[in-house]
Amino acid sequence: MVFSFTASLLAGAALAKGVLSAQAVPTNFTGVGGVPANFAYNATGDFNSSLMPANFTPAGGIVPMDPDPTYHPLSDFDYQSLSLALYHEYIEYDLFNYALTRFSDEEFDAAGINAEYRHLIRFMAQQEIGHIDLITNMLGPDAPKACQYKYDFDSVGGFLDFAQKQTQWTESSTYGFLPHLNSRAAEQLLLQSITTEARQEMSLRQLQGLFPYPVWFETGLPQSFAWTLLAPYIVSCPPENHRLVWQNFPGLHVVSPSTITNYSNASYPQYPNGTYMYPAAVSTNRTLPMSLPGQIVEFQWEAPGQPIGPNASYTTSTSVNGAPQFAAWISQLNVTYTPLNVTGNNSGSTYQPSVHVYNDSTQQVINGSSFVVLTDIALPVTPFNLTAINEHIVAGPLVYSSG
Ligand SMILES: *[C@@H]1O[C@H](CO)[C@@H](O)[C@H](O)[C@H]1NC(C)=O
Ligand SMILES: *[C@@H]1O[C@H](CO)[C@@H](O)[C@H](O)[C@H]1NC(C)=O
Ligand SMILES: *[C@@H]1O[C@H](CO)[C@@H](O)[C@H](O)[C@H]1NC(C)=O
Ligand SMILES: *[C@@H]1O[C@H](CO)[C@@H](O)[C@H](O)[C@H]1NC(C)=O
Ligand SMILES: *[C@@H]1O[C@H](CO)[C@@H](O)[C@H](O)[C@H]1NC(C)=O
Ligand SMILES: *[C@@H]1O[C@H](CO)[C@@H](O)[C@H](O)[C@H]1NC(C)=O
Ligand SMILES: *[C@@H]1O[C@H](CO)[C@@H](O)[C@H](O)[C@H]1NC(C)=O
Ligand SMILES: *[C@@H]1O[C@H](CO)[C@@H](O)[C@H](O)[C@H]1NC(C)=O
Ligand SMILES: *[C@@H]1O[C@H](CO)[C@@H](O)[C@H](O)[C@H]1NC(C)=O
Ligand SMILES: *[C@@H]1O[C@H](CO)[C@@H](O)[C@H](O)[C@H]1NC(C)=O
Ligand SMILES: *[C@@H]1O[C@H](CO)[C@@H](O)[C@H](O)[C@H]1NC(C)=O
Ligand SMILES: *[C@@H]1O[C@H](CO)[C@@H](O)[C@H](O)[C@H]1NC(C)=O
Repeated sequence: MVFSFTASLLAGAALAKGVLSAQAVPTNFTGVGGVPANFAYNATGDFNSSLMPANFTPAGGIVPMDPDPTYHPLSDFDYQSLSLALYHEYIEYDLFNYALTRFSDEEFDAAGINAEYRHLIRFMAQQEIGHIDLITNMLGPDAPKACQYKYDFDSVGGFLDFAQKQTQWTESSTYGFLPHLNSRAAEQLLLQSITTEARQEMSLRQLQGLFPYPVWFETGLPQSFAWTLLAPYIVSCPPENHRLVWQNFPGLHVVSPSTITNYSNASYPQYPNGTYMYPAAVSTNRTLPMSLPGQIVEFQWEAPGQPIGPNASYTTSTSVNGAPQFAAWISQLNVTYTPLNVTGNNSGSTYQPSVHVYNDSTQQVINGSSFVVLTDIALPVTPFNLTAINEHIVAGPLVYSSG
């Protein structure tokens, strides 16, 4: 017997409303087909057939049949967001190629990265060529050019860990700004590239022997989070590159648990003889978690005013006067504040929270790569207005590995 759970749910919902089917009335294509957004829209499932812009096409949406889509930035916000994405595509192209030449086949093999997997990494580098072309075309002649980069890993495991986190913050910051872009056409194309990047991130987790996607929802982030995380790895950029407007927050570091900083016990742990404990695999249940809910987490943070980024021409800053009061854990759909005990001028501790996305104990919010910033207040924010937290950040973000 074939049983479709989803179909039965839908049928049940339709029956409950007494609506079994609805016949669309043919109408003529009117070009854009939208009606203005209605903030009092009654989400009953009824639709108004006399407003339909085309056959089988409900009224509304933002120019779903735009006869002349504009795949270009339509505002400073668009230009700066697309530029930020391009900066990330460039470093990824550099990073994948660099790692493939930096480490020998033997070093890759020892980490469980065989020739097939190396080719996958090589293909990821090639995908970046397409992403770079795409965004450069949308930005036009004033698109930023590639920069020079520095990396602080010295093993295949370190490369995979950096690449996994870097693709995660790129993906997350892009999810954060996509719905706010003025150019919906540019958004469409960027969406189609960032979802490819999400696959890279997942594969990099698998190559690390991590559980591939230990979350129910991917996190969205403000642009300044990504720029703060990226800038330390950029040495210099060509002089014709325009300045990015995004903020560089002061650096934030986890001092303990040592699972984050102690490489032998980090997200890619090795036995004392050098053998990797969790080689590349489609999915791995790890017996040694990287960190656990309820454990004490100790932070150190930097004072603002540090030169950072390309040609050290950016400066870290905060809008807050005084010490932080909270750690904000940004993960999946949620921002969770935990009280911070300040233990020195630039150090403090808190507990890793134990919270669930929904009322279901199987999904911890803090799992995989989440993002921590220190703030002065516990500002209520949700995914669509998360950027409001920027004004309250003392330091961070850092990428926190859990699970
Ligand atoms: C579509 O356009 C044609 C030609 O203008 C017109 O005759 C017809 O009534 C229109 N149909 C509808 C459903 O509006
Ligand atoms: C929404 O629908 C309900 C149920 O049909 C109705 O009682 C209510 O008045 C509607 N509200 C608006 C704003 O149309
Ligand atoms: C459907 O839209 C038409 C045209 O705007 C309007 O006159 C009519 O009242 C609407 N019907 C309903 C049920 O909202
Ligand atoms: C950054 O430094 C590089 C290398 O020293 C130099 O070529 C470039 O012109 C500098 N860029 C800016 C914007 O000063
Ligand atoms: C890292 O962890 C291992 C095993 O727990 C321990 O032996 C080593 O001393 C730690 N290294 C540092 C620098 O903390
Ligand atoms: C990692 O940390 C756990 C708990 O502290 C410890 O039992 C284990 O031996 C460590 N593993 C390595 C490889 O250092
Ligand atoms: C390294 O140590 C682990 C755990 O004791 C063992 O399973 C593995 O076979 C060892 N590898 C080599 C190359 O000796
Ligand atoms: C993996 O972990 C889950 C959750 O702890 C557990 O239910 C499952 O049995 C584990 N599977 C294996 C193969 O260890
Ligand atoms: C904090 O900074 C002040 C002023 O620089 C200094 O006097 C004090 O010793 C510092 N406290 C700690 C705990 O480092
Ligand atoms: C912070 O201080 C409070 C009060 O002294 C204490 O109960 C709590 O355990 C401390 N938290 C951490 C993470 O040390
Ligand atoms: C996480 O976010 C979802 C969606 O906004 C919300 O329903 C849920 O209550 C949040 N969970 C916690 C622990 O705040
Ligand atoms: C963000 O949106 C939520 C509702 O989703 C609202 O409660 C909160 O006050 C908003 N935050 C700010 C800073 O505007």
